[in-house]
This record gives sequence, C-alpha cells and structure tokens, in this order.
Amino acid sequence: MADSWEALKQECMACRGCALADTRNHVVFGDGAEDADILLIGEGPGQHEDEQGVPFVGRAGQLLDDMLEIIGLDRTKVYIANIVKCRPPQNRDPLNVEQDACIGFLRRQTALLRPKIIVCLGRIAAKAIIKEDFKITVEHGQWFQRGGVQMTAIYHPAALLRDVNKRPDTFEDLKSIQAKYRELCR
Ligand code: URA
Repeated sequence: MADSWEALKQECMACRGCALADTRNHVVFGDGAEDADILLIGEGPGQHEDEQGVPFVGRAGQLLDDMLEIIGLDRTKVYIANIVKCRPPQNRDPLNVEQDACIGFLRRQTALLRPKIIVCLGRIAAKAIIKEDFKITVEHGQWFQRGGVQMTAIYHPAALLRDVNKRPDTFEDLKSIQAKYRELCR
C-alpha cells in the first residue's frame, strides 16, 4: 500500500522503537510544507521542542528562522525534520542505536516529500545523511549529489549561537543554498 503523511505520522507518534520513548513528552515529527522543495534536517529535539512537539522552536530555532529569512524562505516553504524524533536526555548526541531505530521515519518523510535540496543542520545530520566521515568544519557548504537530490550541510544554529566566528562562513553557505534554490526550484 502507498505510504501517506497521515499513516507515517500516526506510526511515528506511537513509536516505542528505542529508549527515548520512555523519557519524551512529545514526539517531534516535523514541520513545514509537505510539498516543499527543500528539506532541512536537524539532529533531534531539545527541551522546548520536546515540550511543544515542534522542531526548532527554542533559541536555535529562532536563529534558524532568521537564517531562512535572509534567503527569502520561511516554514511555509521548507520542511524541517530531525534524525531522531524524541529528545535525547540532557541534549546529548543521539546514540547510533537511536538513530538506527528512527532513520526509517526520515527516509519515509523524504520519499513522500521528494525534495530537490536537502540541507543538513550540523555534524550529526551530515554524518547520517551525506557520509559517515563528514567533516563539518571542512565540508560545510559543499554540494553532494545523491539520486538526483542536491545535498549540503551547514553549521547547526546552536553552534552559531555558541561561536559567532562561524557566522560569516554560514552566511556564504546560505547564499549558495539560495542560488541552488533559484536554479532548481523556480
Ligand atoms: N536542534 C535540533 O537539531 N533539532 C531541533 O528540533 C531543535 C534543536
């Protein structure tokens, strides 16, 4: 049977596939347009996301909204999801077993969305989606082609809050994403 957003969301909301299900308040499925050309992928929900059930609503999320605005985008024009849908305690990195248990949901989201561009937010997403040995400090902003989809990674907005010196590079990366969007998406 063909997959649907509704079936996928229901399955994800009820998931008990790893131990993060025991400590979550909300499953954070995703947010944005279900026909968007750009998919943004973060690592996993933090405290605010876990409380509200929506990705990137804390401080990092506000910065992400500002970054999108710089290139003329907003949440009505992109789709935002995470590698893991439930909050890792104390915001630690999601474990490999947790990522493995959850990645099928992201794969199905991607298959339903059929994005032209995927932007990984930070190292964890870049390693899971682009390549295992991805070096974010070296390879951020570079483009990779996989099955007709253009993929890139930029610094995670939380990293940009911690280290403002990373912001000029990210500005360049955002401009490159804007150019790719103009080329491929309209
Ligand atoms: N950081 C992430 O990677 N994802 C969120 O949803 C929020 C913060």
